[in-house]
Amino acid sequence: MVDRRAFLASAALGAGALALAPLAACRPDTKSRNDARAHSEPASVAPGASGGLLVRAIPSTGERIPVIGVGTSGSYEVPIGSPEFDRLGDVLRIFFEGGGRVIDTSPNYSNAEEVVGTLLARGGWREHCFLATKLAADDRPALEAQWAESLRRLRTDHVELLQVHNLRNIGQALPYARELQAAGKTRYVGLTHYLERGHAELERLMRAEKPDFIQVNYSVTAPQAARSLFPAAQELGVAVMVNRAFDDGRIFAEARDKPLPAWADGLGIASWAQMFLRFVLSHPAVTAVIPATGKPGHQADNLRGGIGPLLEQAQQEELIAMFG
Ligand SMILES: NC(=O)c1ccc[n+]([C@@H]2O[C@H](COP(=O)([O-])OP(=O)(O)OC[C@H]3O[C@@H](n4cnc5c(N)ncnc54)[C@H](OP(=O)(O)O)[C@@H]3O)[C@@H](O)[C@H]2O)c1
Repeated sequence: MVDRRAFLASAALGAGALALAPLAACRPDTKSRNDARAHSEPASVAPGASGGLLVRAIPSTGERIPVIGVGTSGSYEVPIGSPEFDRLGDVLRIFFEGGGRVIDTSPNYSNAEEVVGTLLARGGWREHCFLATKLAADDRPALEAQWAESLRRLRTDHVELLQVHNLRNIGQALPYARELQAAGKTRYVGLTHYLERGHAELERLMRAEKPDFIQVNYSVTAPQAARSLFPAAQELGVAVMVNRAFDDGRIFAEARDKPLPAWADGLGIASWAQMFLRFVLSHPAVTAVIPATGKPGHQADNLRGGIGPLLEQAQQEELIAMFG
C-alpha cells in the first residue's frame, strides 16, 4: 500500500500537475522566465503554467511529452506478485496521476519488461504511456526473437520508442529498428549510452544516422554531455532522454550533509532529488529525464523536479562545483 507521506505528496501533485499537465500539453510554446539559456532555447521548450509538469517537443515530429519519465533498471526487476511489485503499482499510479507518461525499459533488465507490461495492463495505462524499450542482441535472428519477446512481455503490439542499447551491434540493430519504424511498430528510433567514454561515438553516429532520440547520462556529477553532445543534438534536431540523473543513486550519499542552496526555495525546490532533476532539465537540449525509483514517496518527489522555473547558468555552475 502507498504510505501516508507518498499519498499526501501525490494528492498535492494531483492538485497542480494532474490538473495542469494536459493544459500545458495544449498550450503554445512560451519561454521560461528563469531560463538563462533562453537566447538559445529552441521553440520546442514548452514550460507549463506555474505548478504544471513541463512538457517538451520531440524535434522530429513536434509531439510533446512530459519531462519527467521513469527508468526501470534495478527498481523494476522484482518478482511479479511480491510486495515490491505491488508497491510499484502505487509508484506508477502516482506517476500517471501526476502527469507522467514516459517509461524506459530494456530486455537487458532481467524481468523489468514483464513487470512494466503487467502493471500497465493492470492499471489500464498502456494507451496513455509513451513506452520505450531497446534492442540488444548480436545477430538478426536474435534481434527478431528479442523484439517478439519484448512485445509479449510488455503486452503490446508496438512501442513509442525503440533504442539500440549501448550502441550494441549498431550495424544490424539500427536498420532493424528502422524497418520496424517503417512498419509502424515503433514511432521513434534511438541510440543509447550511459558513460562519458561512449559520448564521442554516440555523437558520430547521431550525425551519420540522425535518429529521433539519443539517451545518455547527464548529472551534476557527470555534466560532460553539455560540452558537445547536447549542442550537436540541438543542431541536428535530435531529442535527448537523460539517464543516470542521480548517478544510479550514488549522488545522494554526497548530498546527505549538504544543505540546499538558499535560492532553492525561490524555485520551489524542496529536496536534492528535485534539484538534480531541475539541473538536468535546465539544459534546453534535454527532452525528458528518466529517474528510476521503487518508492512511491520518491516518485512524487521526482515529479516535483519537473514543476517550476529552470536554473540560471550560474546556479547550474554552482551545483557542478559543489558535486564535481
Ligand atoms: N545504456 C542505457 O541505455 C542505460 C544505462 C543506464 C540507465 N538507463 C536508464 O535510465 C534509468 C535511470 O538510471 P539508473 O536507474 O541507472 O539510475 P538513477 O535514476 O540515476 O538513480 C536511481 C537510484 O536513485 C534512487 N532514487 C530515485 N529517486 C529518488 C529520490 N527522490 N530520493 C532519493 N533517492 C532516489 C533510487 O532508489 P529508490 O528506489 O530507493 O528510490 C535508485 O537507487 C534506468 O533505470 C534505465 O531505464 C539506460
